Amino acid sequence: MKVIILAMATIVSLSTSLVQAADIDAGKAKAASCAGCHGGAGISPAPVYPNLAGQKEMYLYQQLAAFKSGTRDNAMMASMVAGLSDDDMKNIAAYYASLSCQ
Ligand code: HEC
Repeated sequence: MKVIILAMATIVSLSTSLVQAADIDAGKAKAASCAGCHGGAGISPAPVYPNLAGQKEMYLYQQLAAFKSGTRDNAMMASMVAGLSDDDMKNIAAYYASLSCQ
């Protein structure tokens, strides 16, 4: 019985860490280096750089992962994501998704 309870507790703690919400504040800190092109609040100052504010979180994360893997090929962005971990990209995506696009 004790073993079963212990096993269940382990499964519960594992599953909560897997669905842990992204950290918007950590994403904001990591996004400081993105502001030059994408704007301080995710609204780009130049026509060649896309706005990121208010974009869907999952879409942003998928684009960052694609730049990192090379499936989306852009030299500027490849160098920007090279040093980011998977968690960094999730946190950054959550940060930009939380901003207003107005
Ligand atoms: C030197 C300028 C520059 C910097 C700095 C930069 N980006 Fe980009 N970013 C671009 C360009 C240019 C594109 C469009 C790429 C393309 O045409 O595929 C882009 C595209 C993107 C996209 C895809 C947007 C879409 O609508 O599909 C995301 C997401 C993104 N950048 C996030 C970031 C993040 C996060 C950082 C900081 C870690 C960052 N960028 C830093 C220039 C930059």
